Amino acid sequence: MAPVTNAGLAEAADGRSVLRFEEYELPPGQIDLRATLGCTAPIDLDVGFGKGRSLLEWAALGRDGTLLGVEIRRGLVERAFERLGRAGAGGVRLLRGDFRAVVPRLVPGGLVRRCYLHFPDPWWKKRHRKRQVVSAPVVAELVRLLAPGGEVCVQTDVPERAEEFRAALAGAGLQERWWSDGGPGARPFDVRSNREVRCEAAGVPVYRMTFGKPPPEAGGPQAREEGRG
Ligand SMILES: C[S@@+](CC[C@H](N)C(=O)[O-])C[C@H]1O[C@@H](n2cnc3c(N)ncnc32)[C@H](O)[C@@H]1O
Repeated sequence: MAPVTNAGLAEAADGRSVLRFEEYELPPGQIDLRATLGCTAPIDLDVGFGKGRSLLEWAALGRDGTLLGVEIRRGLVERAFERLGRAGAGGVRLLRGDFRAVVPRLVPGGLVRRCYLHFPDPWWKKRHRKRQVVSAPVVAELVRLLAPGGEVCVQTDVPERAEEFRAALAGAGLQERWWSDGGPGARPFDVRSNREVRCEAAGVPVYRMTFGKPPPEAGGPQAREEGRG
């Protein structure tokens, strides 16, 4: 399994930040989103960002908080890092590793506003299905990380996977906010990924869904707890 590494701007001797890709291997155990990775809440996640178009588009939105991109392939992390640096894009942190192994280590829970999964690998062959990123254990960890009201956004061009992802998200207790069966129409996401653009140019249908973590009910147990003293 690839080590979990944190990509950051290297510091030059004169204190300037220089555009050089460096990886720092993280010690085993918990990975604190704020103290270790330098994220500021609210945090968005981009899992398997590939060539990184969605990271650049996110940065261009000028949002508050941090986008944490997690990608398993070093070459892609390096490429995205360089593209972000050239664009002068801020607010994005990159982590190299297998998201399935990384996600249970991320703490604290409750800080993630949005998790994007743009075209998680389709794994056509049955023997490769064990590499699938979206699974019940991973979705359970995402629920833990989501802030109340936060959401998971998934898109894919594989209809069978779309149905599986939809069932996994609903099965974890998330509420469906958007489902599109690949027909033309509005899209709920605020950024585009490389594969999304390619699919649209080729006229390939894209299945999209957004599932949200319900906010604590007004007057419910958590709200009453918070209201106490
Ligand atoms: C089909 S590509 C989609 C890339 C990009 N999101 C897009 O829409 O253009 C899937 C990406 O997920 C990455 N990936 C696959 N398994 C992963 C895992 N376990 N953890 C993190 N990234 C993973 C792959 O390296 C690849 O970049």
